[in-house]
Amino acid sequence: MKAYNFRQTVKRYLQQESELVVKKGTILSGMRPTGALHLGNYFGALENWVKLQDDYECFFFVADWHALTTGYEDTSEIKNNINELVIDWISAGLDPEKCTIFIQSKVKEHAELHLLFSMTTPLSWLLRCPTYKDQLNQLKDKNITTYGFLGYPNLQAADILIYKAGFVPVGEDQLPHLELTREIARRFNYFYGQVFPEPQAILTKAKVLPGTDGRKMSKSYGNTIALSDSPDILRKKVSTMVTDPARIKKDDPGHPEVCTVFSFHKVFNEGELPEIEASCRGGKIGCVQCKRNLADKMVQYFEPIHERRQKILEKPEIIKEVLHEGNKRAEITAKKTMEEVRSAMKIDYM
Ligand code: TRP
Ligand code: SF4
Repeated sequence: MKAYNFRQTVKRYLQQESELVVKKGTILSGMRPTGALHLGNYFGALENWVKLQDDYECFFFVADWHALTTGYEDTSEIKNNINELVIDWISAGLDPEKCTIFIQSKVKEHAELHLLFSMTTPLSWLLRCPTYKDQLNQLKDKNITTYGFLGYPNLQAADILIYKAGFVPVGEDQLPHLELTREIARRFNYFYGQVFPEPQAILTKAKVLPGTDGRKMSKSYGNTIALSDSPDILRKKVSTMVTDPARIKKDDPGHPEVCTVFSFHKVFNEGELPEIEASCRGGKIGCVQCKRNLADKMVQYFEPIHERRQKILEKPEIIKEVLHEGNKRAEITAKKTMEEVRSAMKIDYM
């Protein structure tokens, strides 16, 4: 009898093992819906998210309330930007079967936890947050001396802690927010008992891709390559990239270290790098040919992403379905955490 049970248990266990992937922990990350993603965004975050979804329980969300903290005056683009962002995500390979994709404002519990954190977070923590001071200086044309903007880290802490995420893949610029999240969690746990883990950053080692003009890739410089650019546009943009200004004739010796095209070859064409470097230095290839080669490699690299995008555009209602399902899934976890939070705080009255 015993042996029989044991075997049954093992069998069930093995079945579960093969059906359920055992995940290493919970991950959460988000992006503000600010328009089409460019290759800097892709290599800085999204590429890594796609890898992480296999090994972790992942929640990826559109931080639309965060977009309001600096952009509350003109909200006309948000709706469309959300749609574009999610199309970018799924084209890039985020798989709604593997991860939960949702919209922040569709899970109202984020707002409730944000409110509770606004009770417990000392004002001084928010005032000395380096991103707060930076942004106040940089966004001089906007009035962001608002309550909501100061409270940004409380909202971000709520986003993360409501899913009890242990890991948060972010860029270096977000480290102060993550440090504050840990402090906010610690303070809550100290007052009301252990509810929240202290999440860690997973820093994304971004491959460095300059913009087409050689400066940092940024929408404000108009030098970006979008993830959604068609092969034709991609080729056009590559053809306008700045190269080594010392090369006027084809047999002028070149300096790949100052050339934008060469920086791109490093990412998309590692195999031919030594060859390209040598023939550039030796004045043996022209920049036009070198660019054509790069464009071919890039088109090839992004082919699966472009194909997925085409499929989504043929059936745009997919996005609504994905978000509907994701919002529901996220809400289940968020509601559960909020029950624990209210009970820990003894405000679970009825
Ligand atoms: N602050 C992040 C940004 O501007 C977006 C964000 C909001 C986020 N909430 C988050 C990122 C939670 C990670 C985890 O990029
Ligand atoms: Fe740049 Fe290629 Fe021209 Fe050399 S040959 S300068 S690497 S584009």
